[in-house]
Amino acid sequence: MTATASSTKPKKILDGPKAPAFVQTMKALIYPFKSLEVNCQKYGDIFSGKSIGFPSFVMLSNPQAIEQVFTADPDLFEIGKGNFTVKPLLGENSLVLLDGKEHKKTRKLLMPPFHGERMKSYGQIICDTTEKAIANWEINKHFIVRKYTQEISLRVIVKAVFGIDRGEKYESLIELITSWLDIFNSPLKSFFLALPWLQKDLGLLTPWGRFLQERKLIYDILAEEINERRNNPELLGEDILSLMLSVRDEDGEPMRDEEIQDELMTMLFGGHETTASSLAWAFYWIHSLPEVKEKLMEELNAIADFSDTNAIAKLPYLSAVVAETLRISPVLLFTFGRRLKEPWEMMGYRFEAGTMFVPCIYLTHYREDIYPEPHKFKPERFLEKQFSPYEYFPFGGGNRRCLGYAFALFEMKLVLATVLSQVELKLLEQRPVTSSRRGITFSPSGGVKMSLVRNCSR
Ligand code: HEM
Repeated sequence: MTATASSTKPKKILDGPKAPAFVQTMKALIYPFKSLEVNCQKYGDIFSGKSIGFPSFVMLSNPQAIEQVFTADPDLFEIGKGNFTVKPLLGENSLVLLDGKEHKKTRKLLMPPFHGERMKSYGQIICDTTEKAIANWEINKHFIVRKYTQEISLRVIVKAVFGIDRGEKYESLIELITSWLDIFNSPLKSFFLALPWLQKDLGLLTPWGRFLQERKLIYDILAEEINERRNNPELLGEDILSLMLSVRDEDGEPMRDEEIQDELMTMLFGGHETTASSLAWAFYWIHSLPEVKEKLMEELNAIADFSDTNAIAKLPYLSAVVAETLRISPVLLFTFGRRLKEPWEMMGYRFEAGTMFVPCIYLTHYREDIYPEPHKFKPERFLEKQFSPYEYFPFGGGNRRCLGYAFALFEMKLVLATVLSQVELKLLEQRPVTSSRRGITFSPSGGVKMSLVRNCSR
């Protein structure tokens, strides 16, 4: 463990709101952005707070403090246990809920398909899935762009997880997951996930009852698929499910079915909900700012070979547009909380065991000293400067950094390039779109209304 040696200097006193935990929780649920901004303005970029059901926390938007947390010995913190609110969504064996050796082992197993050559092999699938999804758009008819980005990202992750994306079973799975996640499509319904005391099964007419019922249907399909592959080894391929079925631990034991089910849910959920909302934001920003769209189209129009997906993913302005989207419209406001296992000194403060550090993506990404005019969408910032991983961290950091970050970036760039090179779209939103809670993530309110102006031939 790397707890800093105690110094003789007097310790700084940490400040933060004094209201009871219930009041702070309600403010954070009802006004998530405002309450963070107000507290940061009043108490600075390291402040304390309380939330019902959680240990007292320390909110961080100070890059130096975030660096210390991300680079500390991971054994100093407990992270998985603090993520208990996602248990109903992902299951108790999910990577997100693991710590220590178990976490490291599972992460190592699940990482390869989301990086390097294996990831790049999904390039054509992403482009084809996108083309299919947008084929039904009709000229001058409006549509909600998030609905399509969700369909694309869900189909892509289903393919990565199962190696197949056709057939009745997969269509049912896609339909069920979409309907299941839609249960929490409003800020009010999202409270069910944040507040465990609301989680009562009062039948199908209540959100929680429907949530449990649909979750069971999804689990049934996953169990059936696991069973079928276990009994038919010839069905095993390069996909993530096959990988989990083939792996053995040090004692030669395979993964249990419940473990596999929960990791499948983690990939299916983590792998599409965030990407879908980030993509919807990207379409919104590109079409709100004609100068951004013009520059982007100039870059895309110069592509000679659209089948070279690696070259598309390296385009500088497209990459900057994606990076700026993830800065200005983060779909997760914080990383996971890091709960201290022993006393620790950091930035002149002494923290007791049990304190939970919460690196705040939203507040850090809006720091005026790092991002001048933070409310303006300016991709150029990412061409002019390289930000440190403690100033810019849409995917978190340290040993918990998003497992699918490279995959998500690759997918976002290919979907944008495919759509923008094939159709001309118009934004139909009359007012600036705001961010609203959707389950445990944030999404553009209303999903971004657009229409098709014309089809373009490449
Ligand atoms: C734009 C899209 C995405 C965003 C913004 C995002 C963001 C994040 C963030 C902030 C974390 C927490 C990291 C931390 O606490 O340090 C995380 C964790 C995670 N993400 Fe993503 N993510 C995205 C896409 C994906 C995709 C495509 C996958 C596919 C597998 C994925 C799987 C995961 C998993 C499994 C974890 C838990 C990692 C662990 O506990 O070790 N995410 N993500």
